[in-house]
Amino acid sequence: MGKLIVEGPVRLTGSVRVSGSKNSALPILAAALLCDERVVLENVPNLMDIHTMIEILSAAGCRVFFENGVAIIDPPTNPCTDIPYELVRKMRASFNVLGPLAAKFQKASVSLPGGCSIGVRPVDYHLEGLQKLGFSIKIEHGIVTAEMEKKIDEAIISLPFPSVGATEHIMTTAAILDGTHTVIENAAMEPEIEDLAIFLNRAGCRVLGAGTKRIEVFGVKKAHGCIHKIIPDRIEAGTYIIAIAATMGDAIVEGLDVSHLISLFDVLKNSGVSLSQLDRDKVRVSMDRRPDPIKIQVTPYPGFPTDLQPQIIVFLSKAQGTSTVIETVFKSRFQHVDELRRFGAKIEVSDGTAIVYGVERLSGAQVSATDLRAAAALVIAGLIANGTTSVNEVDQIFRGYEDIVQKLSNLSAVIEYQK
Ligand code: EPZ
Repeated sequence: MGKLIVEGPVRLTGSVRVSGSKNSALPILAAALLCDERVVLENVPNLMDIHTMIEILSAAGCRVFFENGVAIIDPPTNPCTDIPYELVRKMRASFNVLGPLAAKFQKASVSLPGGCSIGVRPVDYHLEGLQKLGFSIKIEHGIVTAEMEKKIDEAIISLPFPSVGATEHIMTTAAILDGTHTVIENAAMEPEIEDLAIFLNRAGCRVLGAGTKRIEVFGVKKAHGCIHKIIPDRIEAGTYIIAIAATMGDAIVEGLDVSHLISLFDVLKNSGVSLSQLDRDKVRVSMDRRPDPIKIQVTPYPGFPTDLQPQIIVFLSKAQGTSTVIETVFKSRFQHVDELRRFGAKIEVSDGTAIVYGVERLSGAQVSATDLRAAAALVIAGLIANGTTSVNEVDQIFRGYEDIVQKLSNLSAVIEYQK
């Protein structure tokens, strides 16, 4: 595992271009398994997780070509519906190939996803949904096998929590259950769900209501090929916006979709950040002082995203007062707090809530990343701290941030990757 050496403090200036969304490309790559003809995806980010999903599609028998942000997926000639453990273990999103493979080839097996540092991440909503769609589910030796058992005319699936992955998994699987009318209630409303629905409808499927709490899918006989451009990565964009504000910089973020970041913009404006939209996909971020303290509740979209929670805590660690951050999606997603304390941050965590007592300065430290968003937060802390910071076990940051060393260097950061 390598490390990032970051010199601080620095004010970020210049401009940065946002890449395509990891969390849109992954479910759309899984959905490409439904298609009988070539699929061409544009604006696909060059990330470790994308390569993992491409390996899984190849293991399923697809021919996949990926270069310069374009992924071309040809349907399998000899499909394989047993996906090897070592691939699924690497990335939870791999689990979402189970349903499309079973819908297309009647039966499929995928290993249960591992846990991860942001908490226990069960897949019970996924499995209950597949059962309501007419699949039998068997779990043996950590392998889940889904097999088409009976044709369902109508399936009403109410999610106990608006799970992003479960919504995507059920929507994708239902898309080619010919003649089945599926309703997903309490569905997740993230932009990535809408992007997936646009892809499925371009491939000849019939998905209505994506982006709202109620999604309807009218299953069709087959899904054909299509061309689709992946939406910008709102979490990558939000990470850079927070980094520019935290360093009291003045820089441009372009290639984003501003409408995906309303909750972040509200929070930052309330803490004193100046955000001016220069174009549909371009925003100028500037900050000339320590932020005012704020209270944030992390909730499913359109609320403040859990994937920006570690980063906003770093931003608030130097606020002029005490802030509160309540995490309601992954209650134990505070592993980064112990590491932030090593910079001199004053943060208390109890029962899913972080109380952040703003301090005047942080000092550079040796720290270790626990997940990809925590890694990004520790890099931001290194940018605002006095002295040198080493973010160790940092390779997981490349799962979600394309060219992050180059992009931060272009923003005047002094940062180096060491193996
Ligand atoms: C997606 O994960 C994202 N990953 C995560 O981003 C993101 O943090 C999360 O949604 C929440 O927005 C991708 O899109 C690839 P969930 P997912 O199902 O789908 C519980 C990143 O850094 N739950 O919405 O796994 C679960 O435990 C990653 O890019 C069940 O109980 O998240 C959690 O508490 C990290 N049973 C809550 O729901 C289930 O069957 C939300 O999880 C499914 C979920």
